[in-house]
Amino acid sequence: MATQIFYFTGTGNSLHVARELQKRIPDATLVPVIGSLNNDSLKATAETVGFVFPIYLMGLPAPMVEFIERFDSTPANYLFAFATRGGTFHYADVMLAKMLKRRGKKLNAFFIATMVKNTPCGVAPKYLPGYKKMVERWPEAITNSQVKKLELPLQQKLDEVSNCIKNKSRWFDERSILRTILKRMTSMILPSAKAMKTTIPYFADSTCTSCAMCRKVCPSGKVDMGGNCPVWRKDKPCYLCFACFNSCPVQAILIRNRYEIKEGRYIHPKVSVKEIGAQKKPGEK
Ligand SMILES: Cc1cc2nc3c(=O)[nH]c(=O)nc-3n(C[C@H](O)[C@H](O)[C@H](O)COP(=O)(O)O)c2cc1C
Ligand code: SF4
Ligand code: SF4
Repeated sequence: MATQIFYFTGTGNSLHVARELQKRIPDATLVPVIGSLNNDSLKATAETVGFVFPIYLMGLPAPMVEFIERFDSTPANYLFAFATRGGTFHYADVMLAKMLKRRGKKLNAFFIATMVKNTPCGVAPKYLPGYKKMVERWPEAITNSQVKKLELPLQQKLDEVSNCIKNKSRWFDERSILRTILKRMTSMILPSAKAMKTTIPYFADSTCTSCAMCRKVCPSGKVDMGGNCPVWRKDKPCYLCFACFNSCPVQAILIRNRYEIKEGRYIHPKVSVKEIGAQKKPGEK
């Protein structure tokens, strides 16, 4: 029984999960969503197909939406998803199930794990209640001891999840009738990360060493090196992944009027910046 795990990651949490699943599932291959988007046709070749990605704005990140909209999963008879999040309510399971249904397919299982939140403020408006506290607390929330604290329950969950996948069991985390109604309503009201077309007011300060790491990790091609400093191209979308911001080795990337301090950045400790950049390459691992 072959398994394909399609993954998207901004700062490594989802790549860590995808790899840990691969370790536990015989014959599983990892396929980067970003690298695959350049292919003319997106077709499954395995019986079991999984999607691993972060929750953005309570739903699916833009590249995942683009991928699913074009993905032909005909040979697959078991489809699962594993989402990583910072800890809020989400409706990604309902959103994904709806998108697959439109393509004549059924989502068989959905798993979710809370990991370190990879952004101090995301794209939340500054007037949101609790915004200031959320931003102030971020540096304490991204320390290695926080990652360790979340890793033990994650490893236990991964054991259960991989058994569920191997047995092709039906499973939906956090699903009750009330929750499902709320999720359906949210999915009808909220625009997805793809529909929002938001950009983040990033800029690089004078400490930039022109190493181009931010350009190398950017999955959408939005970051370019304009002479010595990065520029965020207007003609490319931002996937909101925070990879450029978190990957800069000297924390030179700041967010205008939102996070203009050098108080920590987050990349999952078991994932390298180079590996995040490598998801732009096509192919299976
Ligand atoms: C733009 C953006 C929006 C996010 N929205 C949510 C959210 O609505 N709920 C949540 O729990 N976490 C949210 N997060 C946190 C991520 O889902 C979480 O940190 C995830 O594990 C990151 O995965 P990655 O390292 O694979 O990119 C958001 C992160 C970003 C960058
Ligand atoms: S990663 Fe940081 S130091 Fe390197 S080019 Fe980008 S902003 Fe400059
Ligand atoms: S500009 Fe930054 S946040 Fe936007 S897609 Fe590129 S790396 Fe991600």
